Amino acid sequence: MSRIVYLNGDYLPEEEAKISVFDRGFVMGDAVYEVTSVLGGKVLEFEGHMARLERSMNELEMHCDLTRDEWLAIHRELIARNGIDEGLVYLQVSRGNAGDRDFHYPPEGTPPTVVLYTQAKPNLADDPKAKVGIKVISLPDLRWHRRDIKTVQLLYPSMAKMAAEKAGKNDAWFVEGGYVTEGSSNNVYIVKGNKIVTRHLSEDILHGITRASLLKYAAEAQMEIEERPFTIEEAQGADEAFFTSASAFVMPVVEIDGVTLGAGSPGPVAARLREIYLDESRKSAV
Ligand code: PDD
Repeated sequence: MSRIVYLNGDYLPEEEAKISVFDRGFVMGDAVYEVTSVLGGKVLEFEGHMARLERSMNELEMHCDLTRDEWLAIHRELIARNGIDEGLVYLQVSRGNAGDRDFHYPPEGTPPTVVLYTQAKPNLADDPKAKVGIKVISLPDLRWHRRDIKTVQLLYPSMAKMAAEKAGKNDAWFVEGGYVTEGSSNNVYIVKGNKIVTRHLSEDILHGITRASLLKYAAEAQMEIEERPFTIEEAQGADEAFFTSASAFVMPVVEIDGVTLGAGSPGPVAARLREIYLDESRKSAV
């Protein structure tokens, strides 16, 4: 049975879902997206992802008439039709079919292209990488400067992941002006004693939905939180490091640019926060 995807109001087998060659997402990277996790057949952090989607669209003067209830209904329908227990839902809204290649936005009222599909990930919560930890390299942050808008312009993060793979590592952390911004597709943290340090929110990083919840749970667990930039050298000397994203939850980092952190295995803070995050987000899943 082929996967059923959603395209502009229709549920279709993936082979039948077609978009225009003039679609702004395809031609200009003019599209925003969200990725949400599914555990036990339910969507995690739904409200947070919807709020960020609305913000991304507002920042780009993009319009879509779907309500939050309608978005949720589509997520649920796709999860049911594709029998997803653990996995991801990918959602993308582009500025639509411009009818031609033109730098200017198409006329107001041009309908957006709305695409959603699922990806089954049977061991999403029980990811073996969380038990051994991730190794990262650092790279200069060569992305555009509105990283707070979640656009599909992901070529540089792709290049970074390929560079990490070629170096025999798992991922890359980006550095700008001497300080770490974020990971290629995640927000990053270091741990020093009872304190978590993570870069403050600005246009320099994506405002992670997992980040917001993680910091709330960490505060509830009496941890100290410092939102400020840090360097690769400071991270290499930290007790622990980890990253967060909707698809990886809380992921320990055990090596940065060839320097092993602590004992080279995931530390207790990251492990505990991963457990809390998974418990809490399962509870609030819809
Ligand atoms: N990436 N920073 C960047 C650059 C990201 O691409 C992501 C998410 C995050 C974490 O945000 P959140 O916690 O809301 O997932 C931070 C998604 C998972 C992706 O592109 O697959």
